[in-house]
Amino acid sequence: MYKQIGILTGGGDAPGLNAVIRAVVRTAIGEFGMKCVGIEDSFEGILGEPQVTKLTMKSVSGILPRGGTILGTRNRGNFVKLIDGKPFIPDLPIDEALENLAKLEIEALIVLGGEGTLAIAEQFHRRGFPIIGVPKTIDNDLAATELTFGFMTAIDIATEALDRLHTTAASHDRVMILEVMGRHTGWIALHAGLAGSADIILIPEIPFSFDSVVRKVREREKSGSRFTNIVVAEGAKEVGKSEFYKDPNAMRLGGVGSYIREKVEEMTGKESRCVVLGHLQRGGSPNAFDRMLGTNFGACAVRALANGQTGKMVALKAAEVVTVPLADAVLNLKTVMVDGQLVRTARDIGISFAAPNESKL
Ligand code: F6P
Repeated sequence: MYKQIGILTGGGDAPGLNAVIRAVVRTAIGEFGMKCVGIEDSFEGILGEPQVTKLTMKSVSGILPRGGTILGTRNRGNFVKLIDGKPFIPDLPIDEALENLAKLEIEALIVLGGEGTLAIAEQFHRRGFPIIGVPKTIDNDLAATELTFGFMTAIDIATEALDRLHTTAASHDRVMILEVMGRHTGWIALHAGLAGSADIILIPEIPFSFDSVVRKVREREKSGSRFTNIVVAEGAKEVGKSEFYKDPNAMRLGGVGSYIREKVEEMTGKESRCVVLGHLQRGGSPNAFDRMLGTNFGACAVRALANGQTGKMVALKAAEVVTVPLADAVLNLKTVMVDGQLVRTARDIGISFAAPNESKL
């Protein structure tokens, strides 16, 4: 049994990180009698003069409903850099990190993160350091788990935004465009679009055509609905074109919503407005589901370490938390299946994805 374990949070924050930290600390101390150390600002906290903090039952008291992460996080730094705008794992300073971990008497790590952070965790595993990953991202794009915590809260927020846009769109007979996050996948747009009654959902997996967007707006006019709500994933692409980047060097997606607004206004003559939901989807308190999932992930991660597992990630499969190899977790992105059930359901109830041949699908 390990005497002391460390925990860190990496990548963009997501609602539910503190729920996981709390569950890890309570399980490690309460159930297994281990000590817990929090590493600050992702893996950066174990370089140079390490930035660590002792975690006790008291220090995690009251953090379950809190957004963000009490440990801080980073999605850039010595462990993840960008070259020509593309993320890559440089010659990781793993030797220095391992020396510091030894000095701090941290014998194993629990790492909370998305694809990038878990890829780094995998490198520690390859060097023989005991490590368990916990999948986190509002984008829900990790292939080896059915859900990541943070996603459900993000959908709630995007759905509420759509509900609110609905009433103002209807009052002014406007086309409203809501741009949501999700990187290269359309999970947030698809789920929120269904829950928030969007008329058009634009996702990276189904490139859109403006003719189809305009056709849908016109069809609605004819049937007496003089407004249209569009939800667009930040990574959505027009047929034959690439994604929109706010900052291509930093690989920050964004801008597709305003582009659509301009074109739709020009092509339909209808007043249009665009709202970029941005980091509101990541901030604030996790919903009940993400608190529950985060808590279960955290406790299961400690149990996995205590049972001698390493190089694994906890994952949700058929409503049970299991462990899968970290290597599998970072292999592929989980994208929306274009002929999957949810897309079919959306089409069946009259939602358009504005594919070029949409009316024939
Ligand atoms: O991966 C989570 C995410 O919120 C993406 O949906 C989004 O593209 C990105 O992070 C934004 O990153 P940053 O916080 O660095 O702007």
